[in-house]
Amino acid sequence: MRRSLRTRIRVALTAVLIVAGSLTVLSPPGAQADLQNPRQDFLRSSVGGLFIHWGERTSPQHTSCSAWENDVRSGGWTANYWVTEARKLHVQYVVLATFHSRLGYARPWPSAIPGSCKTNHDFVRDLIDATNAAGMKTILYMTDDPQWHNEGLSSGDWLNSSAYSSFKGHSVDLTTRDGFGEFSYDNFFEVMNRYPDLGGFWIDNDNAYWESHDLYAQIYQRRPNYTISNNNEDTAIMDMISNEQKTGMSPSYDYPQATFTAGPRLIEADYKLPSTGAWWFDGSNPSVDQRLTLGRYITNAGSSIKSLMAETAQVNGRFPSNQESFNNFADTYLNQIFGSISGTEGGGYLFGGLKPGFWNDGAHGVTTISKTNPDLHFIHVVTRPSTTTLRLRDNGYRVTGVTNFRTGAPVTFSQGGGNLTLTGISGWDQFDTVFRVTTNGRAGIIPPSTYTMSASASAGGHGASAVADGNYLTYWDSNKTTPVSLRFDLGSTKRVQYIGINQREDSVAYARSDTEQSARIRDYRVLVSSDGTNWGNPVATGTLPSRRGVAMIDIPVQNTRHVRLEVVNTHATSSDTTRFKRLRVDEAWIGSDYATGGPPPPPGSTFEAEDAVCQGTIDANHAGFTGSGFCNTDNAVGAAVEWTVPADTAGDVPATFRFANGTTANRPMDITVNGVLVSGGLNFGSTVDWTSWTTTTITVPLKAGSNTVRATATTANGGPNLDNLTIG
Ligand code: GCU
Ligand code: CA
Repeated sequence: MRRSLRTRIRVALTAVLIVAGSLTVLSPPGAQADLQNPRQDFLRSSVGGLFIHWGERTSPQHTSCSAWENDVRSGGWTANYWVTEARKLHVQYVVLATFHSRLGYARPWPSAIPGSCKTNHDFVRDLIDATNAAGMKTILYMTDDPQWHNEGLSSGDWLNSSAYSSFKGHSVDLTTRDGFGEFSYDNFFEVMNRYPDLGGFWIDNDNAYWESHDLYAQIYQRRPNYTISNNNEDTAIMDMISNEQKTGMSPSYDYPQATFTAGPRLIEADYKLPSTGAWWFDGSNPSVDQRLTLGRYITNAGSSIKSLMAETAQVNGRFPSNQESFNNFADTYLNQIFGSISGTEGGGYLFGGLKPGFWNDGAHGVTTISKTNPDLHFIHVVTRPSTTTLRLRDNGYRVTGVTNFRTGAPVTFSQGGGNLTLTGISGWDQFDTVFRVTTNGRAGIIPPSTYTMSASASAGGHGASAVADGNYLTYWDSNKTTPVSLRFDLGSTKRVQYIGINQREDSVAYARSDTEQSARIRDYRVLVSSDGTNWGNPVATGTLPSRRGVAMIDIPVQNTRHVRLEVVNTHATSSDTTRFKRLRVDEAWIGSDYATGGPPPPPGSTFEAEDAVCQGTIDANHAGFTGSGFCNTDNAVGAAVEWTVPADTAGDVPATFRFANGTTANRPMDITVNGVLVSGGLNFGSTVDWTSWTTTTITVPLKAGSNTVRATATTANGGPNLDNLTIG
């Protein structure tokens, strides 16, 4: 790691579209970012890596390369030791930093290129063999930086310009950035030639020589299996951006608040495990803060950020005893909960899932969602609430079960008002209490594909339609304009209860400095209109905190067609010229109803209209209904009731609608199942008065899982009063 953090940050993500698994790259020339490439699969499936800074200047510093190598070998160095320790930390790759500016620029392989320390024994080969045999990967650190070329020396230099110059046949000063760029460039190619089975490079910052000689494209071309990671910079062509250890967040373990790069870009956070001292072994044996380290590991995983955990190898490769003991503890600890971390993505972001972050009564944590099962979630409570209750936004998921992940014991829960509430919790874990949550799809979200979007300001290529295209890689950009409004035209009058927003996570979530602030929505107003012209007073106003993950704006229930979100300002102040007035939204949606949970009903169950999405009002003024009321649909063409119906297996089943029609006219409705018309203009004839209820039955095709059954009025009278739907 470099001593100083360079503030130069490249333009973040270039625009990339992924449509149904295929890829269209729309990036500027020279910035060919691959957001999805098979070579990245390994990193994407990883939780993290073990970062080992280890070289000639590991304490006690050696000045003779061969003396260092002798001490390494006679000290009992083995590559398998590092693999074993990495496994204990439940990480999947090892990043070896020996060719490091502060560690003597040593190259632990028999390099043919003179210019700095190189060994006779091939330690890199040993490590690659050991990691590969364990299903892990070795990634080699490369430095850009000659400025420490004589650090720690009273005379002489770690870099040998004359040897390199005669090897090259022209004069090169290795202590300059350009000269060092040339030397390290040659080393990249030597490594690629020697180690086709290396995992890739972890590149510290950048060097102009590498860029002007097109290094990165050549790496991908020669070694399509390598990945390239960049420290501290978002260089579009590189697979992964690494973020060097940040502190100052609250809670301190919540590292993701400090990241400025948006998924699905591969993102890594690298942090030291020893509480004090350098990135490398300096002779000390600092303690490892269990809570801070595990908190970082878990909140990173809950944000789809890889954890690169740095330990300080001694000359013989072994970690000081406090680090070894931490690894042993972590091994046992993580074994119990790894199923909730591995094979998951961070929840509350583009992959779906429950809302992470700051919960009730001081609780804080993250959520994860299975990569293969969209109805399997985990809640990680890193800071427990002061009470026995945990409440978090359900993000529209219908929750069917909650258990304590470690014990399997069921947890009492309820859903309502947009929240999932767990009650009577005991047996908190000191670092991470994990709840396993099963769901049955999401409910109460008006399908974004039916909206027409517009905005009062948009940057070119980032129009408002991007927030409703189901693609988290496209985003609406306010073109540095606030106040700014985003308008949803729902096509017809609908029940509206909340707005859900996934803002682009490309700014820090708290003000790190005057020039590094959050671009998230701050003060807002919501207005509604039936005609898109007359808006009246706001139906909701408020202030959103600067937080990562999905944001929800609740509004008193409206039946309306047009919804306008006015963003008065964002959290960035004028001192942050990059983010001031810049608003970017990946996706936003309108919730018609909050989800309700409970176990999926068995076949033969009745689904009340008052629990369905009712385009109209829920009334209870005409006796004879079941449940707590019925849906009085609007008297209009298109007025609808939509039920969500779970099914264990696919098949044709009877669907019985209970209704009353106190008029003399038939009120026909189109019945669609999962969007497909099943019965056009089904009759809902007169029942003579509004308190006489009757039923009509048709057959509907259900699929296994969650189904929608929708009845839509085809005449200006609207539908009848609908009481319930019985399936089976
Ligand atoms: C009356 C009746 C409602 C009914 C409505 C209608 O207002 O009270 O329950 O829905 O007529 O014609 O749709
Ligand atoms: Ca009605």
